[in-house]
Amino acid sequence: MPNAKISGTGFFVPPKVMTNHDLSQFMDTNDEWIQERTGIKERRYVENGASTSDLAIPAVEMAMERAGVTKEDIGLIIFATSTPDYYAPGSGCLLQEKMDFPTIGALDIRVQCSGFVYGLSVAQQYIENGIHKHILVIGAEVQSTAMDLSTRGRDTAVIFGDGAGVAVVSASHDDSGILSTHLHSEGKHCRELWVEAPSSGVTPRLNQEILDEGRHFLQMNGKEVFRHAVTRFPQVIMEGLDANGLTPEDIDLLVPHQANIRIAQMIQKRLKLRDDQVFSNIHKYGNTTAASIPIALCEAMDEGRVKKGDLVVFAAFGSGFTWASAIVKW
Ligand code: COA
Repeated sequence: MPNAKISGTGFFVPPKVMTNHDLSQFMDTNDEWIQERTGIKERRYVENGASTSDLAIPAVEMAMERAGVTKEDIGLIIFATSTPDYYAPGSGCLLQEKMDFPTIGALDIRVQCSGFVYGLSVAQQYIENGIHKHILVIGAEVQSTAMDLSTRGRDTAVIFGDGAGVAVVSASHDDSGILSTHLHSEGKHCRELWVEAPSSGVTPRLNQEILDEGRHFLQMNGKEVFRHAVTRFPQVIMEGLDANGLTPEDIDLLVPHQANIRIAQMIQKRLKLRDDQVFSNIHKYGNTTAASIPIALCEAMDEGRVKKGDLVVFAAFGSGFTWASAIVKW
């Protein structure tokens, strides 16, 4: 039975930088508040109508080149996003068409911040069962157009940004690869971090009242999200480590979903990890939801932070609530 390993990574962020100071031109906020509460200095925003599948294209090209594969080698497109181009069809289908892939399967995953880890888990099954040799796992988001950039939306709007990250997951016959994935959800908290409209339960799905009340923007109960995140992250990391007979000391690099620097610091403290065991780039990009782990992984690799034989851990928590971890031997 082959292992499923990450054979190449890539990422792309749009060039337009939106600093904390830039945001303070639209809303009552300031750099000090944002940095102190979230660790974010700036994030990227799309321009000129670029959509989620557009952002994914350069990231896919980079990941495939680094993995040494072509479009014909890819067996399945897994596209994790909470901000798809359209309500239907999925962004995976749009990417397939824009990049002229063969008519392979294209599967969108809608589990928000946990999307990349869920995607890895799906890819792992297809690779280990011998069905596909190479699978694209994409996390891409255009969050900027889902933000209420007025003072009303400031607690949420300052956190999120746009970007795309990709991993090519390939069959391998050495001892490297994904050792385990653990996925969770708890839908009773769905309204703590959600985009209410458009909704299939409302006719018409969008109306003036919804727009006036801002119910089409991403809405977040920051305190509840924080409270659950700092419990679920360490829990699901320990679940993954325990399943493999490992401890936090064995981790060479934890690449957590870049939700908020204070959440990452609390995970680090709970698991007693050193600074060099935890990767962070949230100051540059904010929270890019499903894209944040693959962007961070690609940057960590470019900085030489991931070496052959390392134990790398991914963990995510977000809207749903959903949370997940993956334990990977490099
Ligand atoms: N700029 C300035 N002030 C702001 C602000 C902003 N962007 N957003 C909110 N405030 C104000 C509030 O209105 C409130 O003012 P008041 O005391 O006069 O009422 C004050 O700051 C404190 O607000 P509060 O909501 O209590 O702040 P907080 O300490 O809980 O921090 C978050 C807010 C969002 C940073 C915090 O709850 C958090 O980090 N949550 C987790 C978010 C997250 O990680 N989401 C992604 C998960 S995938």
